[in-house]
Amino acid sequence: MSDESSGTRNTLSIRDNRTGKEYEVEVLDGDVIRAMDLRQIKVDDGDFGMMSYDPAFGNTAFTRSSVTFIDGAKGILEYRGYPIEQLAEQSSFLEVAYLILKGELPTQTELDQFVHDVTYHTYVHENMTDLLDAFRYDAHSMGRMISSIAALSTFYPEAKDVDDPANRWIQINRLVAKMPTLAAFAYRHHRGLPLVYPENELSYTANFLNMLFRIGVKEYKPNPVLERALDVLFILHADHEQNCSATTMRVIGSAQADPFSAMAGAMAALYGPLHGGANEAVLRMLHRIGDVKNVPQFIDGVKNREERLMGFGHRVYKSYDPRAAIIKRTAEEVFEVTGRNPLLDIALELERIALEEDFFVSRNLYPNVDFYSGLIYQALGFPVEMFPVLFAIPRTVGWLAQWEEMLMDDEQRIARPRQVFTGPSRREFVPVEERG
Ligand code: CMC
Repeated sequence: MSDESSGTRNTLSIRDNRTGKEYEVEVLDGDVIRAMDLRQIKVDDGDFGMMSYDPAFGNTAFTRSSVTFIDGAKGILEYRGYPIEQLAEQSSFLEVAYLILKGELPTQTELDQFVHDVTYHTYVHENMTDLLDAFRYDAHSMGRMISSIAALSTFYPEAKDVDDPANRWIQINRLVAKMPTLAAFAYRHHRGLPLVYPENELSYTANFLNMLFRIGVKEYKPNPVLERALDVLFILHADHEQNCSATTMRVIGSAQADPFSAMAGAMAALYGPLHGGANEAVLRMLHRIGDVKNVPQFIDGVKNREERLMGFGHRVYKSYDPRAAIIKRTAEEVFEVTGRNPLLDIALELERIALEEDFFVSRNLYPNVDFYSGLIYQALGFPVEMFPVLFAIPRTVGWLAQWEEMLMDDEQRIARPRQVFTGPSRREFVPVEERG
């Protein structure tokens, strides 16, 4: 805060030692300066002006956002101000989805309406099932999902009208509603099983489980503990502020692409093993380690840089990821129903050693959301290639909230970073016969 009596001001003084000139730039929100304020710093009038260089956006605020708050040092995660622990304990996924999308918890009437709207948008055009036939039998589920969501944009050409709030809300409902249907269709198609269509009287997660696993019976009743566990996992994955896929969503959306096309891009980003594909990579890693007795050797490989401990580390969290703590507890509840996943012992031993070893401690590497989630997914009966899809379904909510926030933000324009050019300076073209 500025204080004239003590001579302090909310500004930053910059002295350019190349020219001896001094500049004063405004400090916003406690500790932020506008990168454009650096542009006035020039050696001479013909100079372009100063830029900041920030590969991988390590220290750049790309936007203002009121959706999700993270304090990485303290391990705090809040959606619209509500702590993740309270939401995971007391709320449901669709209630949290409404909160993230609209900014406030719904009244009972608003929640009923939202649940109704999402429920009644779950069907997809039958042509979408033909699309599944175009894939190879062993196609990865994320490849199918990314293509399906991109294809859906062609069924809703009106989604291009991104300036109309009512139209946006319809597309948001459609995307939240249809993701489980497309995911279940991808799974059943992969397995060669007949498709199961949505049942409107079931909850969001029960309907998803029904479309996935019902076979040979008229009615499928998911175990309530497992249904709730999946709902909690969906709550935990619903948003995570400016991560790689949310940024992709914003960047594509900033060109005013329709939300289906933008979301296909966001899903492609999520698919990467350093992001939402990490849950699948963790399971494959645990299988590869195979036994608790092999853990020390694996850890040595990580320290020697031959391996990466998947499910550990985070750009923002420099303490325990609060989502991982909740997932670890949820895993115990699930295993009481399904029996203990034998890979859990390997995971626990990896965590125990990693939390003691200087390599991990000195780099603040703790388990992240993906370390334990795969063990639950596997206990619920999902094959590993479905794990990133199980991340993408709830994250749809976060992507759409971030997308809408970007569209409503007067300061945002088409995303277009600068570069520091390092190529050759101008030279004359040489015909091929004259090249040495
Ligand atoms: N195993 C071994 N070393 C690691 C790991 C790891 N999982 N993560 C980071 N490091 C090391 C890294 O080598 C570097 O060491 P040094 O400073 O000596 O070169 C140091 O820790 C800092 O890592 P970084 O790569 O600069 O960190 P980042 O912020 O660029 O990357 C990350 C973050 C999540 C990509 C990375 O920690 C990672 O690859 N983790 C494994 C993949 C994973 O679990 N991803 C899921 C993230 S949570 C879900 C989501 O939101 O996407």
